[in-house]
Amino acid sequence: MSDSLLRTEKVTFSYSRKGAKVLDEMDIDIPVGKKTAILGSNGAGKSTLFSVLNALNKPASGKVYYKDAPMSYSHSGKIRMRSEVSILFQNPNEMMFKPYVEQDVAYGPENMKLPKEEVEERVQEALFAVGMEAYRKSPIMKLSYGQRKRVTLAGVLAMRPSVLIMDEPTAGLDPQMAYEVMEIAEQLNSSGVTVIMSSHDTDLVYSWADEIRVLNSSKCVYSGIPEPFYEDYQLVQKAGLLMPSVYRMNRTFANLGKCELEPYPHTQSQLSVKISDRCATDFGVMNVVKVDKDTDIPALLASEGLEGLPIGIYGMSARTARNKTEMSVDFMYNGPENCIRKCLSGEDSVLLCDPIMVDKAVSSADFINGNGYGKIDVRTV
Ligand SMILES: Nc1ncnc2c1ncn2[C@@H]1O[C@H](COP(=O)(O)OP(=O)(O)OP(=O)(O)O)[C@@H](O)[C@H]1O
Ligand SMILES: [Mg+2]
Repeated sequence: MSDSLLRTEKVTFSYSRKGAKVLDEMDIDIPVGKKTAILGSNGAGKSTLFSVLNALNKPASGKVYYKDAPMSYSHSGKIRMRSEVSILFQNPNEMMFKPYVEQDVAYGPENMKLPKEEVEERVQEALFAVGMEAYRKSPIMKLSYGQRKRVTLAGVLAMRPSVLIMDEPTAGLDPQMAYEVMEIAEQLNSSGVTVIMSSHDTDLVYSWADEIRVLNSSKCVYSGIPEPFYEDYQLVQKAGLLMPSVYRMNRTFANLGKCELEPYPHTQSQLSVKISDRCATDFGVMNVVKVDKDTDIPALLASEGLEGLPIGIYGMSARTARNKTEMSVDFMYNGPENCIRKCLSGEDSVLLCDPIMVDKAVSSADFINGNGYGKIDVRTV
C-alpha cells in the first residue's frame, strides 16, 4: 500500500446540477497513521470534502480511493468502508439517532452486532472519555450544544474506528474540553488510528497536526507540513487563515534577532525556552509516571517518593485510574505542557501518563534538550 490512506483524484462536486463547484478537480491525499488537519475559511468545502471521503456524497467526476482501491458506492461497500472510517459531523444535531444518551452511544456498536457486554463496556468507556458518564440516562433534547457534541464524539469513539474524520470537533466546547478532545485525538493516533480534523482553532491545530491541507477556491492549495505554508503570508491571507500565535511570535523574535527561525516551536513553553537567555541547569525534573487503568496511583506515587509535587494527567488509562481515587490533580487538561511549565520555573512535576502517550508527553522536553536550550531531566517511572 502507498502512504495514502484516502485520496481524491480530480474530484468535482456540486450540490445541484447547475450549482457552483464546491470541489473543483480537487486532488488531496491523507497519509496513513498521521494527524492531518484540513484548513480553510467558512464555505471553503471542508465538510463537503469529508462527505465525499466518507461516500456520503458521490463526486460528479473524478475518483476517491480508500487504501488504493476506488471507493465503492454499493450498500455493502459503504457499510464495509464505514466500519473502518468514522466521521464526527460538525453539527451534533445531525448525528443524534436515539432519544437518550446511552442509547445513542450504543447505536453504532449495536449495529455492528457486538455482544451486549462489549456494547456496555464501549458505551461506558466512551462516555467517560468525553466526561459525560453522569448524563448517561439523560434525554438528549435536554442537553446543551456542547454536551451534545460530546455525546456524538462518544458515539464515534464507541465504534473504535481505524480512521477518524473529525469535523470541527472543538467548536462550541468549553476551552478545557477542547484540550481534552485534542488529547483524545492524540491518544487515538498513538494507538494507530489515522486522524483527520478540520478546525478553525489555529493554535490548537498547530500544536497537534503532523500535516495540513488547505482548501481555497474549490481546490487544495497547500499540502505538507505546516511551516512552509505559514511562511507564505500571501497564501495564508488568500486562504482566509491566520498564523498560529506561537508561529507568529517565533517569527517576530527571529526578525528581532532574538533567536533563529528554526527549529520551530509548537508550544508556548518551547517558544519561551527558545528565547530565554538562561540555558538553565536548574530546571525541575519531569517525572512521567506510566499509569494503567488499574494502577493504584497514590500507592505508586508514595513508593516512588513523588508525593506533594504538582500533578498533571495525560491519556485515558491515567484518567480512568485517577477516577478510582479521591486524589486531586493540578492539571486535568494540557498535562504535558503544564508540567513542563512547572519544570521551567524550577519545580519538579509529575505527569500521570497513559503508557502509549509517553513519547508525545516528553516531546517538549526532547525539543528543549535536543536543541541545546537547557536540560530537563525526564524520569520515566
Ligand atoms: N447541503 C448543502 N446544499 C447546498 N449547498 C451546500 C450544502 N452544504 C454546503 N453547501 C455549500 O458548499 C460550500 C462549502 O460548504 P462546506 O460546508 O463544505 O464548507 P466548510 O469549509 O465546511 O465551511 P465551515 O468552516 O463554515 O464549516 C458553501 O458554499 C456552502 O454554501
Ligand atoms: Mg464545515
